[in-house]
Amino acid sequence: MNNELRTVWWEPGAVCLIDQLRLPHEQVMVRCTDLAAVGHAIKAMVVRGAPAIGCTAAYGLALVAMQSKATDGEALLQELEQARQVLNAQRPTAINLAWATARMLRQAHLLSAGGVEIARHGLLAEAHAILAEDLAMCHAIGDHGAVLIPARGHVLTHCNAGGLATAGYGTALAPIRTAFRQGRSLHVWVDETRPFLQGARLTAWELQQAGIPLTLITDNMAGYMMRQGQVDCIIVGADRIVANGDVANKIGTYSLAVLAHAHGIPFYVAAPSSTIDLSLAHGDLIPIEERSPDEVTQLAGQLIAPIGVRAAHPAFDMTPHHLITAIITEHGVLFPPYDDDLRRCVEAGN
Ligand code: MRU
Repeated sequence: MNNELRTVWWEPGAVCLIDQLRLPHEQVMVRCTDLAAVGHAIKAMVVRGAPAIGCTAAYGLALVAMQSKATDGEALLQELEQARQVLNAQRPTAINLAWATARMLRQAHLLSAGGVEIARHGLLAEAHAILAEDLAMCHAIGDHGAVLIPARGHVLTHCNAGGLATAGYGTALAPIRTAFRQGRSLHVWVDETRPFLQGARLTAWELQQAGIPLTLITDNMAGYMMRQGQVDCIIVGADRIVANGDVANKIGTYSLAVLAHAHGIPFYVAAPSSTIDLSLAHGDLIPIEERSPDEVTQLAGQLIAPIGVRAAHPAFDMTPHHLITAIITEHGVLFPPYDDDLRRCVEAGN
């Protein structure tokens, strides 16, 4: 992604987003000027990607504080708590959303004793900090992960875990970007990622903007490419990594991990510590978002299936830790068993 194009940013009185529903052909900014608009943008996937929705929700709470008519800290806290629930309910799988709103509420509790005005400005500063830290974590993931990319390798990625899914630079795309900058001659297979087409619309665009060689494939071509010996490693992002290293990510990730295992191909997950949820022991406990079947039966607003046909749309799946070769975080590359290292990562961030 070029440096001028930001995913989420603050302007006085508004949370601003690049409209990811209109990319790659139109670069349109959306200004969310109240809580409902921020919630809608997250739900409708105007902004998407685990870290990006966390940053957006943080700014959403800062916006609520700015607009609040509360005259004392207690009333402001109540308002923020209600807003947090509204935001958290928009997308249940990516933990970064609940992580960011929890961090904002912790800060609100600390600041509210000093009065509403202090809390307002402190919360905006906290949202800015969440965004800045996310960007820094993505660059660190790039530095740690780049060594895993083969010198002249073919890397496969799924969905979009790039700059658009984060404060910038990306998670899965970060090692790819850094390796490319280091002069490695790599090529990326980009899964189109049905049904929402984050790969075709967003990852292909981001890589093209960065000048990184890519080939777009439909999801069902990935196994063929692996069998042909044309995939050297796979890197995906994560929406939630639980205590034992199980990972929730975009639907189709699990199938890739099984295929990678069958072909002896390294399968890497790249994510910041804000994606780690130690409260869940294993991945079957992760709530999987069900989205509208219309997103399956329609393509760009065009019906592609018989009228009235039933369709399913789980938006994420869970990849068990035994299929994951390594997890790339801002603290370094973790290898199995993951439990202790994941705990250390979270502790390092606290
Ligand atoms: O439904 P989305 O587009 O929000 O899903 C995004 C993903 O699954 C990403 O891989 C994940 O959030 C990691 S983004 C750095």
